[in-house]
Amino acid sequence: MAEITKKPVGIMETVLRDAHQSLIATRMPTEIMLPIVEKMDKVGYHAVECWGGATFDASLRFLKEDPWERLRKLRDGFKNTKLQMLFRGQNILGYRPYADDVVDAFVEKSIANGIDIIRIFDCLNDLRNLQEAVNATNEIKKREGRGHAQIALSYTLGDAYTLEYWADMAKKIEEMGADSICIKDMAGLLLPYRAAELIKAMKEQTSLPIQLHTHYTSGVASMTYLKAVEAGVDVIDCAISPFALGTSQPATEVMVETFKGTPYDTGYDQNLLAEIADYFAPYRDECIKSGLMNTKVLGVNIKTLLYQVPGGMLSNMVSQLKEQKAENRYRDVLEEIPRVRKDCGEPPLVTPSSQIVGTQAIFNVLLGERYKMATGEFKDLLRGNYGQTVKPMNQEVIDKVIPGEKRSTARSAEATGHTEPELATIEAEMKEWKKQDEDVLSYALFPQVATDFFKYRQAQETGVDVKLADKDNKAYPV
Ligand code: CO
Repeated sequence: MAEITKKPVGIMETVLRDAHQSLIATRMPTEIMLPIVEKMDKVGYHAVECWGGATFDASLRFLKEDPWERLRKLRDGFKNTKLQMLFRGQNILGYRPYADDVVDAFVEKSIANGIDIIRIFDCLNDLRNLQEAVNATNEIKKREGRGHAQIALSYTLGDAYTLEYWADMAKKIEEMGADSICIKDMAGLLLPYRAAELIKAMKEQTSLPIQLHTHYTSGVASMTYLKAVEAGVDVIDCAISPFALGTSQPATEVMVETFKGTPYDTGYDQNLLAEIADYFAPYRDECIKSGLMNTKVLGVNIKTLLYQVPGGMLSNMVSQLKEQKAENRYRDVLEEIPRVRKDCGEPPLVTPSSQIVGTQAIFNVLLGERYKMATGEFKDLLRGNYGQTVKPMNQEVIDKVIPGEKRSTARSAEATGHTEPELATIEAEMKEWKKQDEDVLSYALFPQVATDFFKYRQAQETGVDVKLADKDNKAYPV
């Protein structure tokens, strides 16, 4: 009898990054992580995601932890497991495009401090905004034999996003020199049968490994993984059960059990996973008790499928409408969102495009006239400062919002004038605080927050108290 070809699916465990970013506003401290690292290291995960995204900002701002120190401690503990981070293309982990020398330095220090796989994405899927980070990773790989550049496509729905579009993007990513592709479905929009079609179409255009990242928000995620794995996806992103489901990922143990005895069998030890879950369960209870984990984010939110709007964007919108005492306009705003999205070239809705489109839709509805007023960010989007959208923007809207202005067709760093090296200037600005090269990069991304952290660190070391400017910043986007 012919033996069935085995094709074990890999699992990337997200509990140390996305899972706690999604469920407890990125507040898991290093001291909770470290005691379980030795066990996690024995599972045989494809990788553990533990850094990047909002973890960097949250560490400095709320936890008063040096994110670089966290990374080094995790690296020390994970002797056999690859560590992965999330990287916002030319924006690195911050909220504006940086010059290439800062991107290069950040990639280099990330790998030097312990990262193996860098997942790089752009909110418009403008691949030019990802090229420098990919190049930087490849340089280090050539030199040191470590480093893996994964390009993540922000998954979304709309006229422009056909199977051909995604398949063509897969081909382009391979040509860019990336090592793997991720489909990043931040809203949980990818349905099971669509996932199978999508993976099949992409696999026809590329031989690169494909990883699927989704969120449980809409309730379909485990089924989506099942169909995607059957269609040949190589790695799926899951979270250990106490930090799974809701707005987080499908549960690791459930997916492991699902594929047991099939060609996709992960081979992971369910007892070992149970010990890891037992470790995190009391911390979850604590988070629920303290209110850090809001039970609202734990259920299924089917509206995310109905309106194709990420869960986080919906809750932002509700609170903005509440502030304006205009909750009765909820439905009008929901209907306005797809129109605004079309007007600005149908971008994916992910940080920061989700906030830009959502806020503009609220303006359009509440002011009684579309584009009577526009936010600075919406104008920047129309100006091309974030890069290029898949579809052309509405010329009438451009003429009304930014009449006569010059629009850019360059990648974001050039469109916003970050063409000259800027690391030396940044270093000169902060040199009184510098204890390690990495401090310059923390400051480059979050000048105010990093300075506060440096003051805090100095106070810890000297015992002299300091006043922090930004201790309880509530405006922090999670
Ligand atoms: Co995610």
